[in-house]
Amino acid sequence: MMRILITAGPTREYFDTVRFISNPSSGKMGYAIAAAALERGHQVVLVSGPVALPDPKDAEVIRVTSAREMLEACISALDPCDAVIMTAAVCDYRPSRQLAHKLKKHHRVRPIHLQPTEDILTHLARAKGERVTIGFAMEDRDHHANTEAKLKSKGCDAFVLNGIENVGSDEATIEILRADRGWSPAICGTKKKIAESIVDLVESLASKDT
Ligand code: CTP
Repeated sequence: MMRILITAGPTREYFDTVRFISNPSSGKMGYAIAAAALERGHQVVLVSGPVALPDPKDAEVIRVTSAREMLEACISALDPCDAVIMTAAVCDYRPSRQLAHKLKKHHRVRPIHLQPTEDILTHLARAKGERVTIGFAMEDRDHHANTEAKLKSKGCDAFVLNGIENVGSDEATIEILRADRGWSPAICGTKKKIAESIVDLVESLASKDT
């Protein structure tokens, strides 16, 4: 039995009291992985951005809004975990300033200055030791090359390549890149089926299957 930290859903980065920058991640993949891991008898800590999904029964769920909150929740949950699966669609940028009031429409052009958010996966992988660490790459071009670059730069054991056509859907096609083995053939099916193969992957990496 492993204790698995899973992140899911988008983050929201507010620029005034009501408006934010985000993306259409539904959280379905991360929640399906949480359900599949629980079904196998693992413990799950699910750090979730804002999504319209119910808490998976028996998971420890931490709901967050921004990338900064997601990072803090992951850091505080990380220590006893044997594996991290980072499915969350974390916003790469946040507005440099969050206004204390709702922005009024006085201006015809109103630039929003952005600054990078923390890269949570890189941060968590930095001291990973034996902890199995898996990232998800969302790509719309140069899929393999971009995923290979992310695997290396973020220091993970494996990356799951996820096309943009999978966003919000109940089905998906993914490909898995393992640092020790390279690419495996694509897996296509419901997110439930894909979630099961990702739990297989975690178990295989943890047991150092060859
Ligand atoms: N990720 C993260 N923190 C961020 C951005 C991404 O932890 N600030 C994680 C995601 O959860 C995912 C992996 O990094 O597991 C890759 O995310 P992706 O959006 O595909 O790539 P980016 O690193 O954001 O790079 P780019 O947007 O340039 O493709």
